[in-house]
Amino acid sequence: MGPIYFFAFVVAVASADQLKAAAKEDYRLPQIYDISNYELDLLVPTDTFTSKSDLYNGTVKIQLAFTNATDVLYLHAHPSYITLQTVTFNNLKLAKEDYGIDNVTNILKIQLTNPITVNNKYYLIIQFEGRLSTTDMYGFYKSSYVDAKGKTKYLATTQFEPTHARRAFPCFDEPGFKAPFTVSITYPSELNVLFNTQVKYSTNTSKELTSVTFDPTPKMSAYLLAFVVSEFTCSTGDKVGSTIYEVCSRNETASLRDLAVTVGPKMLAALNNLTAIDYGKYMKKLDLAAIPDFSAGAMENWGLNTYREIYLLWDNKESSNKYKQAIATVIAHETTHQWFGDLVTCAWWSETFLNEGFAEYFEYFIAHEVFPEWELDKQFVLEVMHTVLDSDELENTQAIQSDCYTPTEIGNKFGDISYNKGASILRMVSHILGQTNFIAGLRTYLTTNAYAATKPEQLWAALSEHVDNSISNLPADLPTIMNNWITKSGFPLISVTLSGNNLIIKQKRLSLSGNDTTTWYVPITYTISSDSKKFEDTTPRAWLTPDKEYLNITPKENTSWIILNNQESGYYRVTYDDVLWDCIKRALVSENFDGIIELNRAQIVDDLFSLGKADEISYQSVLDITGFLSNDTSYYPWYAAFEGFSFLLRRVGKTSKLGEAVSAYVLGQMNALYESVPFNKLNDSEQVYTLKQVLALTWACQLGHEGCVDEAVSLFADFRENGTKPNKNLRTVVYCNGLRYSSNSTDDWEFLWNVFTESENLATERSTIISALGCTTDTELLKSYLEKTLTDESGIRLQDAASVFSAVYSGNPEGIAVAYDFLTENYTQIAQRYQSMNSLSTLIKGISERFTTQGEVKKLQDFIANGDLPEEFKSSATQAVEIAQSNLKWTEKFEDELMDVFDVPKSAGAVAKSLVSVMLAVGVSLFLVR
Ligand SMILES: *[C@@H]1O[C@H](CO)[C@@H](O)[C@H](O)[C@H]1NC(C)=O
Ligand SMILES: *[C@@H]1O[C@H](CO)[C@@H](O)[C@H](O)[C@H]1NC(C)=O
Ligand SMILES: *[C@@H]1O[C@H](CO)[C@@H](O)[C@H](O)[C@H]1NC(C)=O
Ligand SMILES: *[C@@H]1O[C@H](CO)[C@@H](O)[C@H](O)[C@H]1NC(C)=O
Ligand SMILES: *[C@@H]1O[C@H](CO)[C@@H](O)[C@H](O)[C@H]1NC(C)=O
Ligand SMILES: *[C@@H]1O[C@H](CO)[C@@H](O)[C@H](O)[C@H]1NC(C)=O
Repeated sequence: MGPIYFFAFVVAVASADQLKAAAKEDYRLPQIYDISNYELDLLVPTDTFTSKSDLYNGTVKIQLAFTNATDVLYLHAHPSYITLQTVTFNNLKLAKEDYGIDNVTNILKIQLTNPITVNNKYYLIIQFEGRLSTTDMYGFYKSSYVDAKGKTKYLATTQFEPTHARRAFPCFDEPGFKAPFTVSITYPSELNVLFNTQVKYSTNTSKELTSVTFDPTPKMSAYLLAFVVSEFTCSTGDKVGSTIYEVCSRNETASLRDLAVTVGPKMLAALNNLTAIDYGKYMKKLDLAAIPDFSAGAMENWGLNTYREIYLLWDNKESSNKYKQAIATVIAHETTHQWFGDLVTCAWWSETFLNEGFAEYFEYFIAHEVFPEWELDKQFVLEVMHTVLDSDELENTQAIQSDCYTPTEIGNKFGDISYNKGASILRMVSHILGQTNFIAGLRTYLTTNAYAATKPEQLWAALSEHVDNSISNLPADLPTIMNNWITKSGFPLISVTLSGNNLIIKQKRLSLSGNDTTTWYVPITYTISSDSKKFEDTTPRAWLTPDKEYLNITPKENTSWIILNNQESGYYRVTYDDVLWDCIKRALVSENFDGIIELNRAQIVDDLFSLGKADEISYQSVLDITGFLSNDTSYYPWYAAFEGFSFLLRRVGKTSKLGEAVSAYVLGQMNALYESVPFNKLNDSEQVYTLKQVLALTWACQLGHEGCVDEAVSLFADFRENGTKPNKNLRTVVYCNGLRYSSNSTDDWEFLWNVFTESENLATERSTIISALGCTTDTELLKSYLEKTLTDESGIRLQDAASVFSAVYSGNPEGIAVAYDFLTENYTQIAQRYQSMNSLSTLIKGISERFTTQGEVKKLQDFIANGDLPEEFKSSATQAVEIAQSNLKWTEKFEDELMDVFDVPKSAGAVAKSLVSVMLAVGVSLFLVR
């Protein structure tokens, strides 16, 4: 699925009832079926495309053999959506009491009356009535939009991954069961239908209805099927080899397809090239369809990729560069899945990373081939790796490979560990092997396992065939080296200490709490000041191994500093002793940062903030060493710094004395950065400049930089009074701060809300405004904004409700209490409307992550104690309390230190230290010889 999995499957907790009612193993099907094909016929009648009915009829005919003797057949069917009418096995219509669906596991159990013969072929035929979901966006569901004439149009569309194919038709709904599907769909003649494959033939079954039969699909998993019955129209892109390429959406958005139509075929061509397997060998066409209501970001159904509108439709004048990048990268992500996921599929969701890690990796690295000037290879480190290193420090982080059984547990696998850590580990492997060998290994993996379902063993086996030990220098075989990176949670902190002329390198797990003693095979790369090719070589120069306590290296040349982890190619953090840190600090303030490249400057900043957080280094040192930022105007180190400051501000609260001191410090530090990206210096054609400009202005305005606020407010006024729309890239800044610093908040808010409702066809603008509307500090407005998430008529789509929530609690400190009160007052309605406790769980955790006082936590505790809460909400609220309490503990522990460092007087006249306090090891010069 697409990268905004967090909308779809968020840190949910396993439902206590579910676990009680069924043993975990009961959620799995016996692995004894060999399915040769499915024939699926669906009839979706005219009434179903109105508000009158949600029903359809279906017949599925499955041909299968058994590899082991049995007298029971198990497959999936969701009882809330599927009503069984008849079940026929081996030409025998079974009695009703011979079959039934388990409400908890969604497994349809069929008692076979006659014994089966192993390896014989049998037919299972099931007739059923199905129901489209209208309350969530999973399975076969209904979506709607208002057309150009103001008429509501309904469409029927699907989202099956990971466990929702069973809602649409009875099937073996596990990724490992693959078969070809022959599908026919009968639907109202005035509509049209998209499916994974092309239409084989079409007949008019009656005056109103048309029946279409599609080409059989390749052998594939059920979760990758998709159908869309709608009035969509399509735009055709360039053919890629023999592959027909189309982008489809509601007709009103036809003019917004150009970007996808141009970029999509390029991504497909680049992947044909990279994989050396032509997409056209398996599929004749690739359609990309934008669905008005969509739960994930996008979905890789083989031959028919589905997207949120925001990730497919773009307007050159109105939509920002950031959205352009999002569209290009999400297309790269889903296109990658056509090989990694669709052709070769993870055998079970415990290895979701075999799908999603690759998709996330190539999301950046294939898009990078098409848009090299965007530097996505470098952006990867900020957006993917830094993000997941942060969450992978938490004590209860999952391993990449971890057991899962229930739908909730499976849903949890679609989180940043499978995606971002998976991708970061793959990037590390590509650096260990060298890019050429890595790609050769991937080609072997795909060729060897085409149509199959894989475990990590198959990946390592294929890559092992292409190891060149003169490059990789492996201390053990590849599966051994990779084992702990995949099966253990967390990652190592590498420490470097100077001992005479030697450097002693050690590892331990970096963790905010806990005492895990895992060790890893760690590829070590480094650069010293005298290296001519600084930070270029990312193949391992040495290895730390689990069996040795330390590694000893002696650089052969004179050096005044050493930095480990070139280009942050290894998935780990690094710390140094005081002397070595001081050397780095002094290099960073020399001319041109003494050759330390921006990616490694970003690494140092990101590592330092994390080390400070984990109490591995003092905050005084963090600020001293990152002091160079006042003279650095590069995007990369500043992106990392803002993440670090953002954590501090969340912990201490922006409005506290300490928060104000942190804000003032950041504003001081970012002066040069701010000056480098003025409002009137627009450069839309330079991607990284534009990203930096938006980032810097967002922070400056948010922290109350006067010049920034004045500019934003005046551009907003110009929009409101004269209709001059702000530049597409500055809109987030202008809209948000226009409201945040408004002197007329109700009118300004209403004005922007009207712009929102008039932007029905432009998803990017709607999304920008959804965030901005949370920027007002007027609590009444925020409250009424949240209320709009409870009804469709308000204009806020269900898919956007969670974004409204996060806009409110992250917009301003005032929003936190408003969001909290709203959630606790309306949880029944919210849960009902969302039909999913997952969203409640995310919302409550998102809010409590921002609690800074004992009072707030107490309030939540009382709420849990006194309310008659649904079990699942109670459990996530309890977790939220734990998170908040551990955050408060963190603040308690660090508050004094931070007060000193940021020069905040403590109440009883404590002596404030200066910010620019001098580090310990001043003036030590380091010469490592031989
Ligand atoms: C499905 O088929 C049954 C039996 O033929 C029929 O009664 C019912 O109306 C059909 N439902 C739909 C939605 O067509
Ligand atoms: C199926 O039979 C084989 C061979 O007897 C046996 O090894 C395997 O464990 C059986 N599988 C299941 C799921 O019962
Ligand atoms: C399963 O759910 C249906 C519909 O909600 C209900 O009628 C039935 O009693 C449930 N069966 C079991 C075994 O809980
Ligand atoms: C799609 O919209 C265009 C105008 O943008 C219109 O000319 C065309 O008739 C519409 N097509 C359909 C099928 O509605
Ligand atoms: C395919 O690869 C070749 C050689 O590596 C390269 O020259 C060509 O530009 C690539 N084509 C695409 C579409 O990426
Ligand atoms: C880790 O800490 C827990 C309690 O904090 C303790 O029970 C456990 O024995 C410790 N494990 C090791 C390996 O030190």
